[in-house]
Amino acid sequence: MSTLALFGGSPIRTKPFPTWPQSSEMIREHLLHTLENEQWGIGSKTISEFDRKFASYHDAKYCISVNSGTTALWVALKAADVKAGDEVIIPAYTFIATATAVLMANAVPVFADIDINTGNMDPNDIEHRITSKTKVILPVHIAGSPIDLNAINNLAKKHNIVVIEDAAQAHGATYGDKKIGALGQAGIFSFQSSKNMSAGEGGAIITNDESFADACFSYHNCGRIRNGEWYNHHRLGSNFRMSAFNAAILIPQLDSLAAQMELRDKNRNILDIFLDKIDGLRPMAMSAGATRSANHLYICKYDESKFDGISREIFFKAMQAEGIYTYQGYKPLYKEPLFITNENEYPWLKDLDYKSLNLVNTEKLSNKESVWLTHNHLLGDEEDIQDIMDAFEKVTTEMQSDPKSFLEFTLK
Ligand SMILES: Cc1ncc(COP(=O)(O)O)c(C=O)c1O
Repeated sequence: MSTLALFGGSPIRTKPFPTWPQSSEMIREHLLHTLENEQWGIGSKTISEFDRKFASYHDAKYCISVNSGTTALWVALKAADVKAGDEVIIPAYTFIATATAVLMANAVPVFADIDINTGNMDPNDIEHRITSKTKVILPVHIAGSPIDLNAINNLAKKHNIVVIEDAAQAHGATYGDKKIGALGQAGIFSFQSSKNMSAGEGGAIITNDESFADACFSYHNCGRIRNGEWYNHHRLGSNFRMSAFNAAILIPQLDSLAAQMELRDKNRNILDIFLDKIDGLRPMAMSAGATRSANHLYICKYDESKFDGISREIFFKAMQAEGIYTYQGYKPLYKEPLFITNENEYPWLKDLDYKSLNLVNTEKLSNKESVWLTHNHLLGDEEDIQDIMDAFEKVTTEMQSDPKSFLEFTLK
């Protein structure tokens, strides 16, 4: 085996991986058509076409497009009747927006632990957190990998609670024989730059419930009601509307998504099979009932004990030196400074002790085990995927055959 790049050898990879997001002739045509023939904002046919197509793609009746995944979450929480002081159960292993949308609705995020094998919120860690104030369970399909929605929906039904799926990372993913997103009361998506469908920014809420869709319409459009008067405001909503240009960029992506998903599936599978054979690395499992991940991120787990205690951070350094950018990803959300220092700004959180929360699996995955690769790596060709595997093999083989030089490196 050649010398590791970390110790002065040649890196395995010197070329860039496919970039993201990707433009296309179809996207250019749709943008130009909207620019020259349609309204650019509210009332645009391009926006209603996107809403119709996105809902239908995700097996839902209604879609309300908005300007971000974060505002989609806030709008959906408000439409679910979340009021000041209500509690919303969320995982602590997710992007901060899942929690901030709850805070922005003047509600209380209640963190549940994850299943260490899937990264998704653990349905068995939810019930004992339910109180008379719990209004919503907000599961996240982490990395695009569907959570066990039957388990969550059964729990919600038993306690008369609403389920809103945070599907920000899960465009096109399936649970059983259905697309995720509208398998509870509603679901939200993000179209921010990194997402598998991207308009730079953007979001959407989907649902099968007409009155819920009407409430979302109102909250995202200054409190107006459908077909109501322009200067007639019924709710404390705001302008969270999507621009027609974002919708134009997204419509053709509903067609290109299928081929991209197949490529990501294929490459994820190759990596899973390969990593399964490396002692000390494990691919993530899918939750019960999940049939297809959107593979927004490729996550695997690092086991320090198989590498003589060499930290994951040193492993990252060695992989990055080989030209493969692996990294930690999320930290437990309750550790974020906002939960600890802003008592004056958020007085309703004052008596909550987020500081001493310790969700064992969330901490373990985040602080010790998680190894992330972004989804654009999965859009690579055979040679690209081979480079990733070669780097994993080169680094882990060296770590196991000569741990001393890594431990010395740690001390530098
Ligand atoms: C799980 C999750 N929820 C919510 C969001 C918020 O979406 P946005 O960045 O579009 O506001 C994101 C992504 O950024 C996300 O990954």
